[in-house]
Amino acid sequence: MHDFLYKNDTLYCENVAVPTVAEAVGTPFYLYSGATLTRHFAAFDRAFADIPHITCFAAKSCANIAILRLFASLGGGADIVSGGELFRARTAGVDPQKIVYSGVGKTADEIRAALESGILMLNVESEQELAQIQEVAAGLGLKAPVSFRVNPDVDPKTHAYISTGLAKNKFGIPIGDALRVYLAASKLPNITIKGVSCHIGSQLTLVSPFVESLAKVKRFIAQLAEEGIVISHLDLGGGLGIRYNAEEPPDPAEYARAIKQELGGLACTLILEPGRVLVGNAGALITKVLYTKEGLKKFIIVDAGMNDLARPSLYDAFHLIQAVERPDREQTVADVVGPICETGDFLARERMMPNVTANDLLAVMSAGAYGFSMSSNYNSRPRVAEVLVHQNDFHIIRARETNESLIQGESIPDFLKKQSV
Ligand code: LLP
Repeated sequence: MHDFLYKNDTLYCENVAVPTVAEAVGTPFYLYSGATLTRHFAAFDRAFADIPHITCFAAKSCANIAILRLFASLGGGADIVSGGELFRARTAGVDPQKIVYSGVGKTADEIRAALESGILMLNVESEQELAQIQEVAAGLGLKAPVSFRVNPDVDPKTHAYISTGLAKNKFGIPIGDALRVYLAASKLPNITIKGVSCHIGSQLTLVSPFVESLAKVKRFIAQLAEEGIVISHLDLGGGLGIRYNAEEPPDPAEYARAIKQELGGLACTLILEPGRVLVGNAGALITKVLYTKEGLKKFIIVDAGMNDLARPSLYDAFHLIQAVERPDREQTVADVVGPICETGDFLARERMMPNVTANDLLAVMSAGAYGFSMSSNYNSRPRVAEVLVHQNDFHIIRARETNESLIQGESIPDFLKKQSV
């Protein structure tokens, strides 16, 4: 599952001892295993090897250019959702013909940048967005490759905040309205219809919602064909879940089997947009215990907070937390909390935790997906370093921010400078 393992009571990432990295880069930091990333990508991609497909890594889950480059070097592309992610993917060297662009709120500038880059397709989420794309493409004198994200109204049975395929969610075009939109698009001079896309949610632990939505999308593709609209690409989004605690998600092979069976012989290139399943268990957040405090409850106060890893506060998400050294100590129930001035700032609550003391290191596991990428500077905390392990070495792939980075772009206007303090 991953390459974080104990040797002689010390946590290693592959052949690198975690305390050695902590010594070199300070804490907190995100630590990724190159071997796990590579193995996860290969397992996923291989599961679809017998049909035409492109594995477009969902950049939002872990957008570091080194990670994007690693997947690109294995033949992967990118699923992007902003001009910033487009910039990252291009900088990392991702082939534009393997980039798909999703999201409900693309601006005209973002659309222009994507079209100028020659990406594979824009996944359009509304009729107004289509009109915007037509206008930008006409201005550039080219034809915009598009697919429409249809909303199949399928319950992904996951956390409400990360469920996207229900009719009440903001995403996509209701599948019942989609035919009309495709017909309208087919008449626009600067639009080329490439495909259909669909993404129903994240951290899915069952294959049935994927199959159910694919069945609906397939029926829709048949309807399109009857109208003479033949598509070359079918984008099934991402969403395959991982094990954080006791979940038992299908593995990529099982997921692929179910999808391929439902696809039948549909003649088009499949686009997949996995994020979490590739990077989630490949990364850990390493943090140091600052203090412990015991009263009515026990608190372990660490140097990483909700600004560094938002998932526990935001989704009440579970992340296993382990002592980096001597993991088999006695245990006590405690809350693991950060330095942020909010009660919602916790990494774990009421958890059996090893009896750690100040300066001990903790590893917050399964933090590779939506960990660093959702981190912020809240409480004016510089964002942490990211480190990638490759064989026996480790590489800093993002330097820790400094106090100067915190105020970059800020200035005190002259009228205030004149006022004494
Ligand atoms: N494609 C689209 C259009 C998406 O919106 C997403 C995720 C993905 C692909 C990748 O999904 P994945 O394979 O990673 O499940 N911050 C939340 C997750 C938000 C997911 C948003 N969309 C979390 O930390 O759980």
